[in-house]
Amino acid sequence: MTNHVTIHEVGPRDGLQNEAGVISVADKVALIDLLSGSGLTEIEVGSFVSPKWVPQMANTPEVLQQMQRVAGCQYGLLVPNMRGWDGFVPFIGGPFEVAVFISASEGFSQSNLNCSIAESVTRLTPVVRAAQEANVPVRGYVSCITDCPFDGPTEPEAVASAVAALRDVAPMQVSLGDTLGKGVPDRVAAMLDAVLQVAPADQLAGHFHDTGGQALENITVALDRGLRHFDSAVGGLGGCPYAPGAPGNVATETVLGHLDALGYQTGVDRDVIAKAARLAQAMRG
Ligand code: HMG
Ligand code: MG
Repeated sequence: MTNHVTIHEVGPRDGLQNEAGVISVADKVALIDLLSGSGLTEIEVGSFVSPKWVPQMANTPEVLQQMQRVAGCQYGLLVPNMRGWDGFVPFIGGPFEVAVFISASEGFSQSNLNCSIAESVTRLTPVVRAAQEANVPVRGYVSCITDCPFDGPTEPEAVASAVAALRDVAPMQVSLGDTLGKGVPDRVAAMLDAVLQVAPADQLAGHFHDTGGQALENITVALDRGLRHFDSAVGGLGGCPYAPGAPGNVATETVLGHLDALGYQTGVDRDVIAKAARLAQAMRG
C-alpha cells in the first residue's frame, strides 16, 4: 500500500467560514497563493452558498478571479444547489473541483442546509450532473460522522448510508467529517468499518476537527484502514457556523508532522505551511 498521503487543505474555506469578521479578498488571495506554492495539490478556496447564511464566503468569485492558479493544484468550492452552480459557471474550464455536502444526521442537515438529508441529495444531484457534463471533478462530504450537535451520537450505519447515497449519484471521493471534533479512535474505527462496506478506502478521506484533541489518533486509525487522503486547515483555523461548539480543523502543520513521524510522504513543504499558518493567524486579528 502506498506511503503517499494527499493533504486536502481546507483552511481558506472551512477555516475562514466561521470567522466573526469578514476576511478581505486580498488577505484570502495572499493566503491561497502562499499555500499554492507549498506543494499542496488540493486547496479548498470558497463556497457558493447563501451569503445570508455564510457571509464570510460571499467574496468567493472575487477570490477566484484574483488568486493564482498554480499548475498541478486543484482548487475546491462548495456548491450545495443549482443556485450555487450558477455562481460557479463562469469558472468552468479552470482548475476547480466542486464539492457537494450532506449530513449523516437529520438535525445537522436542517441546521446547515435547511432541509432533510433526502432533500439535500435531491438538491445536489443536478449539481453533480451539471459538473459531469462540464467535466468538472466532484467531491462529496458527509458531516457528523460520529456525533451531531442536535441529535447526539451518529450510528455508523447512518454514515455508510450517507456515503452510499452520494456515490449512488455518481462515483466520487467522499470526505468523512467529524464536524464536532468529538470522534475518538474506537468510534471512528467502527464508523470506518461500516463505511468500508460501501466504498473502498481510496475513495474516502478523513476530515477531522480537533476540538477533542483526538484528530491525530483518528487519522492513525484511518491510515491503518487504508485511507490516504486527509483534510486539514493551516493554522488549525476553522469550524462550522451551523455546528455550535465546533472550532478548529486539525492543523495542516500538525498533520504533516504526524505523517512524517509515521513515515508517510506528502510532497508538502512544511516551512511554507508554517509561514502560511502565521499569516492565517495574523489575518484573524
Ligand atoms: P434556503 O434558505 O433553504 O434556500 O438555504 P432557498 O432555496 O429557500 O433560497 C432562499 C434564498 O437564498 C433565495 O434568495 C436564494 O436565491 C438564495 P432570495 O430569493 O431570498 O433573495 N440562495 C442562494 N444564494 C447564494 N448561493 C446559493 C443559494 N441558494 C439559495 N447557493 C442553502 C439553503 C443551502 C442555500 C443554505 O442553507 C446555505 O447556504 N447554507 C450554508 C451551508 C454552508 O455553507 N455550511 C458550511 C459548510 S459545510 C461544513 O462546513 C461541513 C464540512 O466542513 C464537513 C464537516 O466538517 O462536517 C464540509
Ligand atoms: Mg469541516
